[in-house]
Amino acid sequence: MAVSLFASSLDAYKPRLTEVLAEVVDGGRYILGPEVEAFEEEFARYLGARHCVGVGNGTDAITIALRALGVKPGDEVVCPSFTFYATVEGAVNAGATPVYCDIDPHTFCVTPETVRAAMTPRTKAIVAVNLFGNVAPIPDLRELGVPVLEDSAQAAGARLGDRRAGALGDAATFSFFPSKNLPCLGDGGAVVTDDDEVARLARRLRFHGSDDKKTFLEVGYNSRLDEMQAAVLRILLPELDGWNAARRGAAEAYERQGLGRYAALPEAAPGAEHVYHLYVVRHEHADDLRDALSARDIGARAYYRVPTHLQPATAGYAPAGPELPGTDEAARTHLALPMGTQLSEDSVREVVDGCASGST
Ligand SMILES: Cc1ncc(COP(=O)(O)O)c(C=O)c1O
Repeated sequence: MAVSLFASSLDAYKPRLTEVLAEVVDGGRYILGPEVEAFEEEFARYLGARHCVGVGNGTDAITIALRALGVKPGDEVVCPSFTFYATVEGAVNAGATPVYCDIDPHTFCVTPETVRAAMTPRTKAIVAVNLFGNVAPIPDLRELGVPVLEDSAQAAGARLGDRRAGALGDAATFSFFPSKNLPCLGDGGAVVTDDDEVARLARRLRFHGSDDKKTFLEVGYNSRLDEMQAAVLRILLPELDGWNAARRGAAEAYERQGLGRYAALPEAAPGAEHVYHLYVVRHEHADDLRDALSARDIGARAYYRVPTHLQPATAGYAPAGPELPGTDEAARTHLALPMGTQLSEDSVREVVDGCASGST
């Protein structure tokens, strides 16, 4: 039985999505209209934050948020290396110098200790990634004395205690790329913050550095969430909690069916409610396991085998940072197994059986 790496589908929502897209076409407003405004309000309310600013994608969101937080060219920004490349790319595009910090390979997230080891008097911000749907210890990181940006691209709907990821840092960024827990039908992103000034600057930066389309105060970006994507997101946002519950159910099924005998299972950070954007295990022979699963038509994939501090474009920043043993271990051993809102108990059994035979 084939099991796909992404076990989610929007099929059930297609009639309603087609309808709202037709409504946007009929309405004739395509950029910064009522759908974007309503989605910004609804997503901010869902997260428990004061402001949401819709932008073109999750990468621009990082650049815009860092600049809105006051990062200037040449400032150091502490970032994990074990993340999707866009985290660091977003910081470099803001003019910042990334300084790599390590992660805890059990949670795949940064910790106050790993961040502190990378901080210098030139550190102007920290980017903490809520990786794979886990939540980094943002409240503890805020004690370190510089603004904390949550890269929450992979953690829409996750919680730490009674608060949502995205409402924990000085600002947060989201991606609504189609494979994300809260997807749209193309590119889309958001900057979220409680800070009125950060929100005002983010709004300005997403529109060419202008507040009124006449006077251009800064060199900014053309990076807006569009009306079509906002309309789609307004249909799908009410589904997010149910979808995340289904993902947690699949993670529980993996545990119940004994996957832990064959691989190290993902660990929610203390106090975190994980949303399993990806279900990532660790295994000493991860590529062999991937090949064994693929021979049984089961999707499995390593995402960051070459972490950002070793990528050609961004390796040049690496020497300034500390050693990264947790990153090296995670990069070598991680493997994403099938996950999604529609992963059946039978599929979970098939994956566990595949791991059992692939581990011998
Ligand atoms: C952790 C992380 N940060 C940033 C991004 C960038 O988002 P986007 O693809 O919308 O630019 C992604 C998306 O894949 C991501 O996973």
